[in-house]
Amino acid sequence: MVDLLSIILAAGKGTRMKSDKIKVLHSVAGKAIIKHVLNTLDGLNSKIINVIGHQKEKVQAELEDLDKWDLNYVIQSEQLGTGHAVKQAADYIENHSGPVLILYGDTPLLRKETILEFVKKHKNSNSDLTVMTAIFNDPAGYGRIVKNDQDQLISIVEEKDADQKTKKIKEINSGVNCIDSRLLKDFLNNMDNDNAQGEFYLTDIIEFAVKKNKKINTYTVQDSDEIIGINTRKQQAEAEKILRKRIIEKHLTNGVTIIDPDTTFIDSEVEIGSDVTIYPFNYLEGKTKIAKKTVINQNCKVKDSVIEENVEILSNTIIKESKVGAGTNVGPFAYLRPGSIVEENCKVGDFVELKKTTVKTGAKVPHLCYAGDAEIGERTNIGAGTIFANYDGNNKHQTKIGKDVFIGSDSILIAPLKIGDNAKTAAGSVVTKDINSGDTVMGVPARVYTSEKQEK
Ligand code: UD1
Ligand code: MG
Repeated sequence: MVDLLSIILAAGKGTRMKSDKIKVLHSVAGKAIIKHVLNTLDGLNSKIINVIGHQKEKVQAELEDLDKWDLNYVIQSEQLGTGHAVKQAADYIENHSGPVLILYGDTPLLRKETILEFVKKHKNSNSDLTVMTAIFNDPAGYGRIVKNDQDQLISIVEEKDADQKTKKIKEINSGVNCIDSRLLKDFLNNMDNDNAQGEFYLTDIIEFAVKKNKKINTYTVQDSDEIIGINTRKQQAEAEKILRKRIIEKHLTNGVTIIDPDTTFIDSEVEIGSDVTIYPFNYLEGKTKIAKKTVINQNCKVKDSVIEENVEILSNTIIKESKVGAGTNVGPFAYLRPGSIVEENCKVGDFVELKKTTVKTGAKVPHLCYAGDAEIGERTNIGAGTIFANYDGNNKHQTKIGKDVFIGSDSILIAPLKIGDNAKTAAGSVVTKDINSGDTVMGVPARVYTSEKQEK
């Protein structure tokens, strides 16, 4: 039995964003706006209904990984206003008794602690309707909270419907409401669209509840930033800044050294261990995890990757969808493309590009190299200027190099290719055939030499 029914409104296009992508799918701190909103429900025992419309398949795809939650969808095919959007969930409301929490899908700065406290307050005060509000110095664009002489909420007036006096009110509607299901049902059956925008406003429920003598409360958030709604790119940029600051503060509290918080950009789902040091101009993105004592020098980007303990990432390095093992050094100017795994105590040095390549424990690729679709065995050394020629113009091919191999500078390894343990290539070799363990090759194309230096 769930305690709560939560409805998230996310059907609108977000015309003011001037984008092909709908508003709630835009990201803030590396995560879709709607996902931030949904995360505030973490910890509440709630059935969740997302009201979707524009780009509905994309919204559903974005939320796919939240499948452990009780997520449900209803479709609003025409966006006739926030009240009309809630009405699409009428069947769910019909079958629910108790409070219904309504959130707008465009408010990503809400904290889950705030939502929890808000719902608690609604329940404890036996209200029929609680509206979350905030005080804004610049309330432009938001619905204004109109109160009577007894400081009781009597209506919410949208900016477009407001007279000059009402526009001066600084207390605004956040869009977060908790409403008793019977009152909500009654309102949805009686609402109209008699206003400047010709829309069915959810906010009209206040006057409706006043007429019915219902118990109405407001809950004012202390940190008004929490209820910034994203309608424009400007608001998106503001939210981005606020959220990033919060994220940085969280990591500082957890024991991460961040040399310059103003030039460090960390997405909301990144995890960082203690005693990590992050130099300026770094971007840590997506679901990246960085274990303790790692150092990230300036101007790097790490996206959706796992970096283990005591790694040093030197400046100007990019790492995407890859893994770097403990004690390894990467960079400067290294590029780890998706699917690369560098194991423990390795060196991947300057101007090295790896793609879908595994560098096994203790191996070194110190400088100037391209390795694609390859495996480099334990303790093997790849000389400067080595190219793994993995592409024949039509297909990509694999190269597998064994343990303790020495690849001389400027070798070209033409895939598909296998090089056995302890083999060697002389500088400038072009290797077109597999090399057996222990053999040495040289020349163009490379030929095998025995230990007596005779050509085989
Ligand atoms: C709304 C409130 C306003 C409040 C502000 C807070 C109303 C009438 N106004 O204004 O009082 O101060 O939010 O941010 O409620 N949506 C639908 N279907 C629709 C219309 C909207 O799903 O038919 C969704 C949108 O996708 C969005 C949310 O509802 O996520 C809010 O709509 P929006 O157009 O942003 O309302 P605001 O003008 O910001
Ligand atoms: Mg809005």
